[in-house]
Amino acid sequence: MIVLAVCSLKGGVGKTSVTLGLVAAARAAGLRTLVVDLDPQGDSTAGLDVDGEVSASSALVIDEPRRRHLRAATLRSHWSDGDHPPVDVVVGGDDLAAMDRTDLSSRRLTSLRTVLDKVSGDHDLVLVDCPPSLGGLTRIGLAAADRAIIVTEPGVFAIAAADRALRAVHDVRTQLNPRLQPLGIVINRVRPNIGEHRYRVEELTSLFGPLVLTQQIPERTAVQRAQGAYVPIHALRNPGAREVAALFDGILAHAVRAARRQRS
Ligand SMILES: Nc1ncnc2c1ncn2[C@@H]1O[C@H](COP(=O)(O)OP(=O)(O)O)[C@@H](O)[C@H]1O
Ligand SMILES: [Mg+2]
Repeated sequence: MIVLAVCSLKGGVGKTSVTLGLVAAARAAGLRTLVVDLDPQGDSTAGLDVDGEVSASSALVIDEPRRRHLRAATLRSHWSDGDHPPVDVVVGGDDLAAMDRTDLSSRRLTSLRTVLDKVSGDHDLVLVDCPPSLGGLTRIGLAAADRAIIVTEPGVFAIAAADRALRAVHDVRTQLNPRLQPLGIVINRVRPNIGEHRYRVEELTSLFGPLVLTQQIPERTAVQRAQGAYVPIHALRNPGAREVAALFDGILAHAVRAARRQRS
């Protein structure tokens, strides 16, 4: 089981879009995937078109990391239909907001990892969609993860934001989770015909070197169209969708290779 946390300082940069893109890639690759929605807004829960009702959200799982609480907060996505492996979602909810504090105990901070270790045989990949801050919830996500994906846009604040996110990864590694490493920085919503975007991509690459993933995600309406139809981007057939789907396949393959290297 590989656990990836998807995080950033800001909202709207594409954490949920990257999470959904990686779920789509994992589904196409035949991986059994669990998404943990740590955002009180619950966008990835909604985007994955889950079926049924739950009596709890991921907040209960963090509060008391028991297997039965995980089960109570988990729904199956319609993306699991047909020949595809299961995609399950530990749903996000309003009650998470109260947990986004800076004074959480280390027991609380590591609770997600505690419960994931109890079900590690059930999934090949876990994706944790974090809320848009580096507060308690993101630290809980990072403390559960093997690798962190930092999402940023090619804008003027991207460097400071990526820097702070990398520092948070470093802090969580030293304080809570020695196996955590950054997978890299995903630059999202790139429009290569805009000079400012090209400049920011070059700037990020010169500062962060190989940590900037070569798979930069362009701004494509297919991303929004797939989300609006609640389907994996791999299910759309137009060139923009194929291009983005292939990039997510590349990021997933990179994560799987990195996890294998770590183990050997
Ligand atoms: N590469 C992209 N191309 C086009 N639209 C995008 C892209 N990435 C994200 N979006 C759109 O931007 C909005 C914010 O993205 P989202 O993934 O919800 O960000 P976050 O989870 O970081 O708040 C959504 O409406 C999403 O559809
Ligand atoms: Mg989101």
